[in-house]
Amino acid sequence: MSQLHLVIYLDCNATTRPRPEVVEALLPYLGERFGNASSVHRRGQAAKAALETARESVGRSLGAEHAREVVFTSGGTEGDYLALRGALRARPERRHVIVSAIEHEAVLNTARALATEGCEVDLAPVDAHGVVRLDALERLLRPDTCIVSVMWANNETGVVQPLERIGALAHAVGAIFHSDAVQALGKLPLRVAALPLDLLSVSAHKIEGPQGVGALWIRTAAPWLAPLQGGGQERGRRPGTHHLAGIVGFARACDLATAELAEKTARWTELRDRLERGLLRSLPGVTVHGALAERVANTSFVSFSGVDGEAVLMLLDEYGVCVSTGSACTAGDDAPSHVLLAAGVPEALARASVRYSIGRETTAEQIDETIERTAEIVEHLRALAPPGLEVLTP
Ligand SMILES: Cc1ncc(COP(=O)(O)O)c(C=O)c1O
Repeated sequence: MSQLHLVIYLDCNATTRPRPEVVEALLPYLGERFGNASSVHRRGQAAKAALETARESVGRSLGAEHAREVVFTSGGTEGDYLALRGALRARPERRHVIVSAIEHEAVLNTARALATEGCEVDLAPVDAHGVVRLDALERLLRPDTCIVSVMWANNETGVVQPLERIGALAHAVGAIFHSDAVQALGKLPLRVAALPLDLLSVSAHKIEGPQGVGALWIRTAAPWLAPLQGGGQERGRRPGTHHLAGIVGFARACDLATAELAEKTARWTELRDRLERGLLRSLPGVTVHGALAERVANTSFVSFSGVDGEAVLMLLDEYGVCVSTGSACTAGDDAPSHVLLAAGVPEALARASVRYSIGRETTAEQIDETIERTAEIVEHLRALAPPGLEVLTP
């Protein structure tokens, strides 16, 4: 058996293993059911039928009013990029953009690029719990604000944002409201039609679907113009031949994730609480970030004061426990989490953080083993720390 079968995988916010039902659903489209959904012949029409069935599934999971509002993309990054740039193309007279300070790099770096292209960009601050400050956001909004982008659930802390109130504020000045829901799909009930939302991006690989596929939901009446030009696929909103197998797998993952949401949330809450209680009991100087805010049930971002989170990650990996120190997209760069810094967490504590993200296959035994290994490692690292380095007790 390969070493990879022995791991305790607690990095489900980075990616998840495609579940067998998903692989089974998509495989025929890499073989005998291949086809281009734009072709007129029967093979093309069969592909088109599969594509539209998948669109219905994804639309249902998002709570969209119409399936046609779903535009398939290559994932969350592309959805975020298209959302921001498409809003600016539709409303060129508005050049002000607001994104929250805790967004994923997909939004933050798109906003940074827009700032070099003549847009004014403001970052909406968050409070100590990692929740966007509505008073501050309201002060930032202007008559020329084109788009406000605030994620539904944060990928590092799991903290859920008050979208209904943010959307109402954005709409009060006529701005378009986008949410990156990559970490919310499959973890929270999404009811896009009922919320003051215009655009929403999601990704398949966070919900046991394949990598490299996702969707941008565009409300029918939303002002938005495609930033990418090419063929007429997706009603001209996203050109390029469809990744049909990926889309079929995504749809199956959506159906399953939505059907199992309540049961999974209950189980994940228990496991997450077990992990946090265990860590807090085993060690001094443990901080659970966002613990007092509403969070998705699978995510726990924890700091162990006096140690380097990266060192904990590497040593846990030696024991076969896979975690991260924050966003997988910034892993390897040396900067502390921008999400924690935005919430006012001191840099040293931000550098001492480890993210555990639970999945469908996580068991209580794995959590207990993880608590034990983490405690051992943190104690070991603290014992090696130079004298004078304090273990802060929160
Ligand atoms: C909140 C958030 N947005 C966007 C992305 C990017 O999604 P994708 O990997 O599908 O491009 C991620 C993935 O890490 C994410 O967590």
